[in-house]
Amino acid sequence: MKIGFIGVGNMGASIAKSIDAAKCTLYLSNHNLQKAEELQAHIPNAVLASNEEIAETCDMIFLGVKPYQVTELLRTLAPAIAQNKKALWVSMSAGLPLSKIAELLPSEAGLIRMMPNTPVAVGQGMTTYCLSDSARAERDNQLFTEVMANSGKLLALPESSIDAATGIAGCGPAFVFQMIEALADAGVQNGLQRADALELSAQTLLGAAQLMLETETHPAVLRDQVTSPGGSTIAGVVTLEENGFRHATISAVNAAIERTRALGN
Ligand SMILES: NC(=O)c1ccc[n+]([C@@H]2O[C@H](COP(=O)([O-])OP(=O)(O)OC[C@H]3O[C@@H](n4cnc5c(N)ncnc54)[C@H](OP(=O)(O)O)[C@@H]3O)[C@@H](O)[C@H]2O)c1
Repeated sequence: MKIGFIGVGNMGASIAKSIDAAKCTLYLSNHNLQKAEELQAHIPNAVLASNEEIAETCDMIFLGVKPYQVTELLRTLAPAIAQNKKALWVSMSAGLPLSKIAELLPSEAGLIRMMPNTPVAVGQGMTTYCLSDSARAERDNQLFTEVMANSGKLLALPESSIDAATGIAGCGPAFVFQMIEALADAGVQNGLQRADALELSAQTLLGAAQLMLETETHPAVLRDQVTSPGGSTIAGVVTLEENGFRHATISAVNAAIERTRALGN
């Protein structure tokens, strides 16, 4: 199977790295060719190609360009797309609805809207997705889940929920990195080496998240388990509440969702 990537920036490259290259051939295209060449060096048998070659020949095509570039790109590729009407197109563009992409593709084409995040590059992604309503949807779903099998978790959602998922999982890694940095700053302030402080912070987030997922326990219950009466953890928890941690987090996600919706218009 031939899988094409048009645009291999941060997100496109992360997804390409997660795909099992033994089961397919990856075709890579990017505006600035150097990025595609750098990615090619990491993926066995990957081939550099033009946007037109990918549109004309690939079975499955990931669109990794910015949301505002998708419409113009597909218009430019219309003659090539017409040569390969049954391809499965996968958009990862924040906010861009299926309907806006579908109107630029042949009726025979398959279409999936996905919202990945950069941890797909290490097999720990959280990707939500929805399919356009067509007779081939079940087959497309199967192909998509097979191709993305090594990327982390996949969750199919109705399209109306994808913007909300974008605010948490798509943008969330940035919020988490901010928290890791802040925790590490506190460690450095209290005498830890930066590298040690970063490792402590990142592993603590990873471990806490894994504990919650594996034990299927509500986070408030797990938090109660580490806050002994009059202890040091509850002192920190109260300080976070005093400084509006919960409100700041909810506001950040809401701002990201609002911006996502604006990008789609
Ligand atoms: N970053 C994330 O965490 C994240 C998460 C979820 C979804 N997304 C979505 O992923 C998409 C890409 O975002 P990104 O953050 O990866 O942006 P990015 O790093 O800027 O990547 C976009 C890439 O597309 C290339 N490009 C632009 N026009 C092109 C064209 N006509 N032909 C071929 N390549 C072209 C750019 O090349 P040049 O740099 O050479 O111009 C760039 O490498 C967006 O739709 C975004 O909404 C991103």
